[in-house]
Amino acid sequence: MSWYKHWFADELYMDLYAHRDAAEARQAIDLFERVTGTISGGSRSPLLDLACGTGRHAFELARRGYTVMAADLSPTLLSAAARKTQRYRDRLSLVRADMRRLPFGACFAAVLQLFTAFGYFRTDAANEAVVAGVRAVLPTDGWYMLDFLNAADVARTLEARTEQHTAHGRVVQERAIRNGRVEKRIRISGDGREEEFTESVRLYTLADFNGMFSRNGFAMAEVFGSYEGAVFRDTSPRCIMFARTV
Ligand SMILES: C[S@@+](CC[C@H](N)C(=O)[O-])C[C@H]1O[C@@H](n2cnc3c(N)ncnc32)[C@H](O)[C@@H]1O
Repeated sequence: MSWYKHWFADELYMDLYAHRDAAEARQAIDLFERVTGTISGGSRSPLLDLACGTGRHAFELARRGYTVMAADLSPTLLSAAARKTQRYRDRLSLVRADMRRLPFGACFAAVLQLFTAFGYFRTDAANEAVVAGVRAVLPTDGWYMLDFLNAADVARTLEARTEQHTAHGRVVQERAIRNGRVEKRIRISGDGREEEFTESVRLYTLADFNGMFSRNGFAMAEVFGSYEGAVFRDTSPRCIMFARTV
């Protein structure tokens, strides 16, 4: 089974990433509105939260009045998203979909793909096909907000091993950079459970994204280094890109 199907199907993922929370989602959506002010001002077209996870950004967008489609591959995370977002059922829909085969026409004003939900597939062609798929669900002048890790910062700050105790037991994480990917091995033990998961993300740089965008009908509009909207640098924690369809 692909690492991302295995790992994002387990409740441990929600535990380990609990600090990636609603407050952080509000900051990301503040930044989205700062850059794409015209959408909030006028368009009635829906937004797509692609690889929505537990729906923290979709929730925030719906709270602000947008019509939102939130898509993810993980039934576990979609169930959590359904619980979290049920009060906005009138304007928020959840759908199980693979980012490589989006079941939509060019109906969205913007696609948001947030918190390193990119670079999962083994080949560059497969990863770039996701950009082409996003282009296909946007009209001209649509927005693509892609929030990725900053490869230079990951290489500089990578912790080879960490250990922590969670509600699920003892969790050991080992990290390394191999063949242009950041690979993480996550081992959980406790409560009679011994299991291992993997995370593997291709370390694309801003230059790589510039290439992928220009080959697939996007022009890079703005890049930030944090959810607060800091200037992007080598040491930034994030690489948050806003591209426009051309
Ligand atoms: C790091 S999480 C980010 C979740 C969410 N955007 C957030 O900020 O909390 C990556 C997400 O990508 C989803 N995912 C992984 N592979 C996918 C695929 N092929 N198609 C759609 N979603 C996928 C996972 O299920 C997971 O929810």
